[in-house]
Amino acid sequence: LEEKRIDSILAQMSIDDKIGQTNLRGTSSRAKTLSEALKEDVRQGKVGALLNVMNVEFVDELQKIAVEESPHKIPLIFGRDVIHGFKTIFPIPLGLAASWDANVARTSSRVAAIESSSVGIRWTFAPMLDIARDSRWGRIAESPGEDPYLASVLGTAYVEGFQGDSLSNPTSIAACAKHFIGYGAAMGGRDYNTALIPKPLLRNVYLPPFEAALDAGAATVMTSFNEINGVPATGNEFLLKDVLRDELKFDGFVVSDWDSTIEMIAHGYARDEKHAGELAANAGMDMEMTSKAYENNLKQLIEEGKVSEKQLDEFVKNILRIKIRLGLFDKPYRDKTNEANFYSKAHLELAKEAAIKNTVLLKNRAVLPLSKNKKVALIGPLANAPLEQMGTWTFDGDRTRTVTPLDAFKSANVNHVFVPGLTHSRDLTKTQFKKALTAAKLSDVIVFVSGEEAILSGEAHSRANIDLPGVQEDLIKELSKIGKPIVLVIMAGRPITITKIIDDVDAVLMTWHPGTMGGEALQEILFGSREPEGRLPVSWPKTAGQLPYFYNHKNTGRPANNEDYVSMYDIPIEAWQSSLGNDSHYLDIGFTPHFPFGYGLSYTAFKYDTIKISKDTINFNEDVIVKATISNIGKSDGKEIVQLYTQDVVGSITRPVRELKGFQHVSLKAGETKEISFKISPEQLKFSNHKGVDAAEEGNFNVWVGPNSSSGLKERFYLKK
Ligand code: IFM
Repeated sequence: LEEKRIDSILAQMSIDDKIGQTNLRGTSSRAKTLSEALKEDVRQGKVGALLNVMNVEFVDELQKIAVEESPHKIPLIFGRDVIHGFKTIFPIPLGLAASWDANVARTSSRVAAIESSSVGIRWTFAPMLDIARDSRWGRIAESPGEDPYLASVLGTAYVEGFQGDSLSNPTSIAACAKHFIGYGAAMGGRDYNTALIPKPLLRNVYLPPFEAALDAGAATVMTSFNEINGVPATGNEFLLKDVLRDELKFDGFVVSDWDSTIEMIAHGYARDEKHAGELAANAGMDMEMTSKAYENNLKQLIEEGKVSEKQLDEFVKNILRIKIRLGLFDKPYRDKTNEANFYSKAHLELAKEAAIKNTVLLKNRAVLPLSKNKKVALIGPLANAPLEQMGTWTFDGDRTRTVTPLDAFKSANVNHVFVPGLTHSRDLTKTQFKKALTAAKLSDVIVFVSGEEAILSGEAHSRANIDLPGVQEDLIKELSKIGKPIVLVIMAGRPITITKIIDDVDAVLMTWHPGTMGGEALQEILFGSREPEGRLPVSWPKTAGQLPYFYNHKNTGRPANNEDYVSMYDIPIEAWQSSLGNDSHYLDIGFTPHFPFGYGLSYTAFKYDTIKISKDTINFNEDVIVKATISNIGKSDGKEIVQLYTQDVVGSITRPVRELKGFQHVSLKAGETKEISFKISPEQLKFSNHKGVDAAEEGNFNVWVGPNSSSGLKERFYLKK
């Protein structure tokens, strides 16, 4: 039925009408008036979709023109970057990933869809599914982290949340799996940079989250800015046709990124705008964002036989299919009965819950939770920064609705004194230090809310040095001399290297940019009515010089190990011989991250007691059952994220030292022991092998159940043909 409807519309369309559908026109969300030229273009059917129309009257008027006056009465789609909330802002996606919780991802995107659809937005440019292995990259903030399995679980949940039960529900918005593909592999973490990704890496690491999102029904896909193996993604026929359409059977539409079509000229891949249009069209890119290579050239390219009309027809079919699925032909207008739930009590509660679940406790020298009768010196540039704690991509969040740590301390009547000590994170002056030190001396405990402002991460905002910016470390060092316990809170869009100050503080809480309700979540965690529930979705480096770093690396022929490694600082010079070791490490910092992927402490302590495997040898059609017992050996009830990893010891191509295959959230009362059971199916042991074929291979597998990627109890089994 859907295809018949598409064909009958298409049959009446001229080439110009068809090209109109491929045009995603950018507008300014700050525009005070609706331009006559834009109205005329919509009237003539020259626009298929619009980006950033944020005035609801403009949305209504433009849609009315499209469905009443344009040649084929085809409705427009209104798109917007609704990334981690629309009005109610949730933690940044890297923070949401730290929850390791599909429910958190699903509810955050559901809330975002409900709020944004009420102003006419029916398409978001999310979820971002770029595996990110380099914390220098600014867009790591928007990523699901470094692991393909975790990213796939989250990617599925985001799509389910955005798109709801049915795309045609007026509170559903079409998801866009982006950026296809390899954007996170930008060299040196420099945004937009070259990605070199051999096929096995593409298929085993970068592709799985996209496959998961498409399986969940993601309606659209965005190409990435980068070139991959020499071919820009927007003009990459292998990716867009062979992989996306033929292999993954994607039947929605592909949109380019902002001007990425004409950026193929700067890449040195297209000669000019017309050539860029030709390359993108023949690669299978359906809708062009903001640039006009299609609008200005596609007709001529078709007339010259350089692009076939059949190809253009495919684009239009893909676009109409999503417009039909969104129900836009039947209900083109905003559903005004879908009352805006901006900042509703329920939404704020969910945002607070997400901020609690995203907070990772990295260190605790028995200082947390704080007792309420203690006087707190609240210090630091992020302690009262309402805009900054929302993080990157929050155009629509209202900073006056943000609850900062200071706000939360006030409303919970925390006995405190607030002295920021620094004007902002990059402040290089020490003029306010004295006041902060005085306040600290008169208090029992110091809570230092450090970090980086929202603008220091996100698109085009990479950093070469990822220490705390400005003189924050200096102030922390000064404060540590007072002898009061220090709780270091980090609000940032990426892991921040803290090796120089970790010994000066008693506890470290990573909140990422926690969104609207971050202050309240932090207050509850600090005083122990809740515990921090997050675990790291990325390895936390000791220094930027160690990047890229990821836990699921290969072993090398000379694997680094603790027995052989001695730091160049630990050996007296007279004992130096001609070599300081012969394996894969850095002389100065070794080979391990500061905190491994999956790491996070709790207010209680857990012990992994036993691990058992169902069989030592299993056949290709059998599942392996792995059982582990875990005890809460601390004094309070708590939650653990129990993680399952495997290693395929020998492969037809070398395999990672560990791969995450499952995880479970487990609540344990103080003193309680539980048995946790995981099933590993042969399907989960498959990988894209030396022949590019997805297969599990006969041989030994190691398996770990544990609290993070670098520890746990170990077993092994043999997979037999
Ligand atoms: O969705 C974004 C994309 O991630 C980066 N460039 C601009 C797009 C639209 O705003």
